[in-house]
Amino acid sequence: MNDPAPSPAARSASAPPPGGVDLHCHVLPGLDDGPQTLDESRALCAALAADGIGTVIASPHQLGPYDLDNDGPEIRAAVVELSAALGDLPLRILPGGDVRIDERLPQLVDEGQVLTVADAGTHLLLELPHSSYLDPLGTIEQLADRGIQTIMTHPERHRYLAQSQRRLAAWVDAGALLQITAGSLLGDFGRTARAVAWRLVDEGLAALVATDAHDTRRRPPRRTAARQLLAEAFSEDLAARLVDDTPQRILAGQWIKEW
Ligand SMILES: [Fe+2]
Repeated sequence: MNDPAPSPAARSASAPPPGGVDLHCHVLPGLDDGPQTLDESRALCAALAADGIGTVIASPHQLGPYDLDNDGPEIRAAVVELSAALGDLPLRILPGGDVRIDERLPQLVDEGQVLTVADAGTHLLLELPHSSYLDPLGTIEQLADRGIQTIMTHPERHRYLAQSQRRLAAWVDAGALLQITAGSLLGDFGRTARAVAWRLVDEGLAALVATDAHDTRRRPPRRTAARQLLAEAFSEDLAARLVDDTPQRILAGQWIKEW
């Protein structure tokens, strides 16, 4: 006889499933441009588990085009609901957000409307607009004043940053971490994004890789394939640091100074 699926409370009290940590993923149903239905979310969760992920930060878009639609309480509740619907799939889901830069951000973090990684108050995923540059240095500093290290999401995918290595280095100097999307390393976002992603790794500016997965077909996880390519192109040690170790340390609440 099969054991019944653990309740959400039992899940969070028990040890996390084995596997890697994915810090950036649009896995919750009906909130953003990720899965639209519970079935689609469950399919993405199965794909994440199959890709070697044991813990995923559910990070729906916050602010920007979504403004205050996806607020903290709504995301936390959606995480509990999806977790309860996973049956015996070995995947832990924790709340977070993919937060568009916004002058209200520090206040919204203080109020719990905008979520930090795992709701832990130590790291925040910060996204720039797609079409124009807004300097994030002030926000990086404001968040640091609150004890929050900023993780800049997928700078390799912003065309206006393709020739701006110096800007990215300035963010890193200010204490921010650069997150590369796994699919960028594989060419899923085009030649420019791939070239910039590899250059950021080569120059030691990229601190971690996350999937930023949205579904199982158009934007699947791609963690294992990206990790393998990193190991082949550089070393197993570097692949382990970018894909496994640094995300684990962030989840443990450590401010990352070296990677
Ligand atoms: Fe994202």
